Amino acid sequence: MHAREDGAVIDRVVRHIYVHVPFCATVCPFCSFDVVERRAGQVDAYLDRLEAEAVVAAEQFDVVPTTLYLGGGTPSHLRIGELARIVDVITRVFGRPSGETTIEVHPLDAGEGKVAALGDLGFNRLSVGVQSFDDRVLASLGRAHTAAAALTAIERCLATGATVSLDLISAVGGQNLGSDLAAAVASGVHHMSVYTLTVEDGTPFARRGVQVPDDRAAGAIERTARVLGSAGFDRYEVSNYARPGRRSTHNQAYWRNRWVLGLGPSAGGHLPPLDADRSAGAVAVRTANAPMAAWSGGAPPEAEALGPREAAGDHVFCGLRLSDGVDLDEGSLRWGVDIGREFAAEIESLRCDGLVELDGTVLRATDAGYRVLDRVAAEFC
Ligand SMILES: C[S@@+](CC[C@H](N)C(=O)[O-])C[C@H]1O[C@@H](n2cnc3c(N)ncnc32)[C@H](O)[C@@H]1O
Ligand code: SF4
Repeated sequence: MHAREDGAVIDRVVRHIYVHVPFCATVCPFCSFDVVERRAGQVDAYLDRLEAEAVVAAEQFDVVPTTLYLGGGTPSHLRIGELARIVDVITRVFGRPSGETTIEVHPLDAGEGKVAALGDLGFNRLSVGVQSFDDRVLASLGRAHTAAAALTAIERCLATGATVSLDLISAVGGQNLGSDLAAAVASGVHHMSVYTLTVEDGTPFARRGVQVPDDRAAGAIERTARVLGSAGFDRYEVSNYARPGRRSTHNQAYWRNRWVLGLGPSAGGHLPPLDADRSAGAVAVRTANAPMAAWSGGAPPEAEALGPREAAGDHVFCGLRLSDGVDLDEGSLRWGVDIGREFAAEIESLRCDGLVELDGTVLRATDAGYRVLDRVAAEFC
């Protein structure tokens, strides 16, 4: 940690690592992530490239991992030996993560032996992609598993003693959201991510003309917040709910705009500037890794250098997703910009519209602001 001449306090240590694992058993028709169905030889090539990328990152940045997150794609689709190699690479190159270590788990990968082996590899947070507890809805989403398989997966994950999260998709046509939420609560998980179905360009859902009416989406979000709130889940981020003490440290690192190293195809990162960018006035760099084909061929990430105002804007933009809001003083100190002054007009106009409130130095979205968060956040871009 050191203070720059302009007063900004920059801690250059990167404490969070995200690894994108781009393989899935089958590709769901609603999903637009950078994924492929596994083919012979591809995983070994991916693991080699991942290791090379990690070694380069370690030469450039001071990485001392607190959290590690294996997302996808479907990391659980890899064999235990392949997952062990990822953990080994991270540990050898950067050191063993000292805190939350998450892996996304597909219900069909949750055989008893496999789930236990994930625990042995050090994963202490397991995030299960459930989507719905209704077999008809799962079929309409093109999911390859049943609700019973998801429940078995959750039980096995809970039995390891890890923190267990599940993903649900809301606002699906024909879905009984009330029963999905009740089943999710009854499953005993500690954490839930509930995403509104989005129809992304280029997906089979878009080609079929699947629609999610705005009122259905808004109703689903309100209902989710109400039901999970009464069941004792804290809505700590727009789409994320946790039992006390079970918030995700890794995901909060994104929303608190901490440094994150992204490894793997299409992974995003937020990193301290290297010397050349720093001398040009950058205080942070946003990175986006190339998609699978180009990344596999060694393509470097796209990097966008951020000046103090842009970094501070990002800080507010991300922080407003949290129910805790964002401490403007902390952001100002970090980025060397007086955020209250720099964004005075934007904050005042949102305040007049009843979309944000200022509590001391903490800026928070109001209930009305939470409903139109993209509009609120856009003011700081
Ligand atoms: C990487 S996947 C989770 C792990 C695993 N691949 C699986 O599907 O079980 C992350 C989550 O993103 C959500 N998701 C993906 N595409 C979505 C879409 N178009 N609309 C809403 N949620 C989506 C799903 O809830 C999914 O579980
Ligand atoms: S939702 Fe999960 S399993 Fe389905 S294609 Fe996307 S990443 Fe793969």
